[in-house]
Amino acid sequence: MGRLNLDILHDRRGTDCVKWDHKDFVDNRVSETALPLWLSDMEFKIAEEIQKALIERIEKGFLGHSMPGDSYFKAIQGWYKRRFNWDIDKDSIFYSPGALPALGFVIRGFTKEGEGVIIQEPVFYPFAELIKGNNRKVVNNQLINDNENYRIDFDDLELKVKDPNNTMMILCTPHNPVGRVWTEEELKKVVKLCRGNDVLIFSDELHCDATRSGVTHIPTMTITDYNRIITAVALGKTFNVGGVPISQIIINDEELRKVWRSETRLKHYIAFAPPLDMVLTETAYNKCDYWVDEVMEYVEDNFDFLVEYLDKHLPKTKYKKPEGTFLAWINFGAYVDCEELFELLITKYDVLIEDGRTFGKSGTGYFRMTVACPRSFLKEGLDRIVSAINELTDN
Ligand SMILES: Cc1ncc(COP(=O)(O)O)c(C=O)c1O
Repeated sequence: MGRLNLDILHDRRGTDCVKWDHKDFVDNRVSETALPLWLSDMEFKIAEEIQKALIERIEKGFLGHSMPGDSYFKAIQGWYKRRFNWDIDKDSIFYSPGALPALGFVIRGFTKEGEGVIIQEPVFYPFAELIKGNNRKVVNNQLINDNENYRIDFDDLELKVKDPNNTMMILCTPHNPVGRVWTEEELKKVVKLCRGNDVLIFSDELHCDATRSGVTHIPTMTITDYNRIITAVALGKTFNVGGVPISQIIINDEELRKVWRSETRLKHYIAFAPPLDMVLTETAYNKCDYWVDEVMEYVEDNFDFLVEYLDKHLPKTKYKKPEGTFLAWINFGAYVDCEELFELLITKYDVLIEDGRTFGKSGTGYFRMTVACPRSFLKEGLDRIVSAINELTDN
């Protein structure tokens, strides 16, 4: 028995959270009673140690301008050394108010308008939005879906990195939403191709702590000395604090750091870091390994539950337990049209899951849902999906 009771569904309403208090953000036809199984945000309460540390910090009575100090850097270094055997130099760690703002700074600082940025669809959709929003070109190195085993199309990637107009690649590892944790061999091939063509790699490793037992995430920077890599890590996914604007951007190369500093500080005046967020980071990384381990065990059991449930009730579903993330990527296309199902779930069965099409054309037919929730809640969502599919197939 662990220390946490993850079977409890807490009432989060009244915190202005997107999932429960702003359901109309997804679709304004959604009812108050809808089950939100979308968004990569867990239904588990944050660690008590974090709550306590934040209260103690507030009791000091000051929340003035603050900067990362030694203890903040040490906490980050300690976590990545302990969990990934990754030695991060203190001077390589930069604060960013989120990984996506950092990606925006990197796109603006390291590429020119009109240049191509490579992504691997179906993938976390803000990547494409940021590329387009900054007047760069989305270049899709489509993942190959081999019976729900996703892999990289290296021949296509080679063509894309060789095009001199393509100057940057966003690598998502673990990959959201398909759940792959790229192996050392795959990472080495990606790095080799990018290095050979001087393509900058932005390695988004936000889901690095959410892996299944027996699967190890490998930080891209640990397998190479290629200097044109920028890594984003953060504790948002890991400790269920996604609403907190803080992430760590790791840059080893001094030339790259110069560009980063100029982009963030000189152009956007990001010189400080939020005091509460730093306390949170320090406490989480120093004291809450147990919380992540327990939550990940529970998530693993939820994935097993999901597999069993689908095998029993909807055996023709295309689905594979992912290696990483706490997100399921499911295709009910053998039973229904995904558009019709999505409509019915929203308008009648009160379930909010994400339409795979948002992640790129190749997401058509898929849904993404989070399993980081009490099992009873997951089961209720699945029961409603089965009812909706039954209604559509009975007609
Ligand atoms: C792969 C990936 N990158 C980035 C983010 C968002 O990062 P942030 O909130 O730090 O901007 C998410 C959140 O879902 C994500 O899944």
